[in-house]
Amino acid sequence: MTTTDLPDWNNDRSLVADPYPAYRRLFDEGRTLYWDAKTDAYTVLGYRDVAGMLKDGRFLTNRMKVFLPRIPEETRKRIQPLLDTLGHFMIYLDPPEHGRLRTPVVKAFDTRVVKNWRARIEAVTTKLLDAVAGQEVVDVVPALSYPLPITMISEMLGLPLADASQLKAWTNDVASFIDRTTDPEVAKNALHAVAGFRAYFTKAIEERRSSPREDLLSYLLQLREEHPDISDDDIIGNAVLILAAGHETTTALTGNALLALARNPGELAKLRERPELIEGCIDEALRFDPPIHRTGRLVSEAMEWNGTALEKDKRVSVFLAAANRDPSIFPDPDRFDIERKPAAKHLSFSFGPHYCAGAGLGRTEAIVAVSEFVKRFPHFELAGDPVYVNNLTLRCPGSIKLRVTKA
Ligand code: HEM
Repeated sequence: MTTTDLPDWNNDRSLVADPYPAYRRLFDEGRTLYWDAKTDAYTVLGYRDVAGMLKDGRFLTNRMKVFLPRIPEETRKRIQPLLDTLGHFMIYLDPPEHGRLRTPVVKAFDTRVVKNWRARIEAVTTKLLDAVAGQEVVDVVPALSYPLPITMISEMLGLPLADASQLKAWTNDVASFIDRTTDPEVAKNALHAVAGFRAYFTKAIEERRSSPREDLLSYLLQLREEHPDISDDDIIGNAVLILAAGHETTTALTGNALLALARNPGELAKLRERPELIEGCIDEALRFDPPIHRTGRLVSEAMEWNGTALEKDKRVSVFLAAANRDPSIFPDPDRFDIERKPAAKHLSFSFGPHYCAGAGLGRTEAIVAVSEFVKRFPHFELAGDPVYVNNLTLRCPGSIKLRVTKA
């Protein structure tokens, strides 16, 4: 087996526009778990391996100790505040710190809460769609898939919508760093973004400390009284995480679902005729084209994993998006089929202890947005190629132009 023809996940940016042929080729060649010198990590694509590693406690999520030596000493010192903030994200915490933060935070997004917000999600969607009525070509990202989730998560956290574009810009810079940690320019922007986020949330928290409100930030603050081991830095870090995870992913899901329908007019016709298929449609969009393509873990002890020797203290890069196209689990995996009855669940919300805390919210927003869009514009087709934000980890379209007609 040669390594020269392996995909260059971090540098070949054509993979952002379409990574699926690369996944398919690796499955065809049987290369679904290999050591990748370019990323200094095991690359894992097969469904059973990805799901198995995500739920196995020997694979840790805090991979700082192998990540730090990859960054030059001087840069490391400079970006320390950025690393400190990321270090509080629950997504990078292992037991026991992880449960301490996750358990109360998950409650803020449980089924009852999401149900209470549904009417508001519908009202915001209606207003956004009213604003594009009469247009022949609608760019669904600025029109719907971006403003809906940022409005919802801002309202939940209790932040003014006027701040949304600043918060989005900072989110993009932090997300770029998570995608390409060793790029100095990306690190510089992310450092600046984290400083902005910290100042912003410190002020918002101070305001709530003196006069609590009915919002998620006040709830996080109140947790400190019940759980004295939760610090201000925990609250700030996880407010940033919730804000970022709470909008960019759902922007991608809604956009990807509409894109898949535009490219598959037969599936769009089915949804038009049977609107009750919407839940299956969103689940299939999650499988077919997920917002988060890859995540990472750390091998905490040397082991034999399904015939491959894994070395201690190496990273694994698990490709959720590739696992969703594993032909041994999902027959004809490259087909978008809204009536698919999969034998296994897609891994787009991850699996195991870090399963997405906002899955219900993200799914509900996409269900409302896509079903309302199809009601308003029963027929649509692509009016040009989609344009992607430069990020393979959180792969999000920045523009999807659709030519829409009512009849
Ligand atoms: C369609 C939308 C979404 C997708 C595809 C998605 C995907 C994911 C994935 C893959 C992870 C785990 C990554 C890992 O295992 O390393 C995750 C974790 C998380 N997500 Fe989401 N997410 C979405 C929406 C949301 C929303 C709306 C929120 C909050 C409002 C949210 C909050 C979180 C949080 C707090 C975690 C960390 C959980 C933990 O570490 O225990 N997500 N998400």
